[in-house]
Amino acid sequence: MSILSGKRIVLGVSGSIAAYKAADLASKLTQAGAQVDVILTGSAEKFVTPLTFQSVTGRRAYTDTDLWGNEAHVLHVGLGHATDLLVIAPCTANTIAKLAHGQADNLLTVTALASQSPLLLAPAMDGGMFDHPATQENLDTLRKRGATIVEPAEGHLASGLTGVGRLPETHQLIGHIRLILGRRGLLAGKRVLVTAGGTQEPLDPVRVLTNRSSGRQGYALAQAAQDAGARVTLVTTPTALTPPVGAEVIRVETAKQMLDAVLKEFPESDALIMAAAVADFRPKDVAEDKIKKEGGVPQIELEATEDILKAAAGLRIEAKRKQVVVGFAAESQDLLQNAANKLQSKKLDLIAANDISANDAGFSVETNRITLLFADGRRESLSLMSKSEAAEIIIERVAALLE
Ligand code: CTP
Repeated sequence: MSILSGKRIVLGVSGSIAAYKAADLASKLTQAGAQVDVILTGSAEKFVTPLTFQSVTGRRAYTDTDLWGNEAHVLHVGLGHATDLLVIAPCTANTIAKLAHGQADNLLTVTALASQSPLLLAPAMDGGMFDHPATQENLDTLRKRGATIVEPAEGHLASGLTGVGRLPETHQLIGHIRLILGRRGLLAGKRVLVTAGGTQEPLDPVRVLTNRSSGRQGYALAQAAQDAGARVTLVTTPTALTPPVGAEVIRVETAKQMLDAVLKEFPESDALIMAAAVADFRPKDVAEDKIKKEGGVPQIELEATEDILKAAAGLRIEAKRKQVVVGFAAESQDLLQNAANKLQSKKLDLIAANDISANDAGFSVETNRITLLFADGRRESLSLMSKSEAAEIIIERVAALLE
């Protein structure tokens, strides 16, 4: 999560029962390398203590006592300035109302008023308070001033009622934080189309021909592109992975569906990264009913699927904008030669060659050992690294190619 590394985040915690979940958020942000300064309101202190946050951030957590302490005249200004982001999670209806009206009667609201940094609010409240016109109008006011509001989730509320008001899961909050921190990245204003996962070609209503792709490298690329400020469209086959918050997701199963989705989205994209493992062959006929054993061993005739990368790269000739096309080569032998051939025959700008015969790289594992081959003949060997790290490097190279 290098986008969070070294970032200064002020995390305001206000008085909702969801305050205990903010400790998990503070912990995950810290683990990802952010410097997290926590400010608790008086009512938050009734649910959780400063020590909870100090223990997970390794830094002092602030309360209203600090507002009237020795450093008070600079503290609120110091905390709010020179920060990359002010997050208030959970943010109660009361704190929302104060922020909307510019009130500043505790350390958190004083800090928010003094701060120039982007503001992210995660409202959390019980039974109907979120839907109340007063809260909604206050949120509108804050939105108009540029604040980002993460919509609360629907479900069980502490009162026993069911409704809208739950604090979203930590990973979702972190997704929104990443979106804001990435806004001015290398790919700001660019649209990046990423494919991920292995396609599934049906044989009958029950069975499919597929491959071992986990989708991890593609999802990591989508996240890295978004961290760099791009608007991301992720075309994905079914996987167990969670798409990056903010990405537009198009779900497909077959190579044909992926082809249609890519060709539709590609003209508006600045870059296409085909990390998906696309079937080269599919059953020629799909049985309408489940194939039964009694019929004997079936003879399955296959036909070729279309090469999506080649089709998209071919469209570029008419394109008005500069478009970068990136492929992957998953090889078990003659890695670089095969990758170089694919780079040339598919007319790519860049290909990531991946040795799938190694047990620490390729399908189903967390790491990859990739060599990048560029159209101009340059080669770059990356050491063994996580798929996220590899994704960040590939995205940097894509940004350079787009310059
Ligand atoms: N690819 C594609 N459409 C296909 C097959 C592959 O767009 N029908 C893309 C993959 O997403 C990948 C690149 O082409 O980015 C190379 O895929 P790979 O399977 O390594 O190569 P193939 O071209 O399928 O050749 P082969 O299977 O013979 O190695």
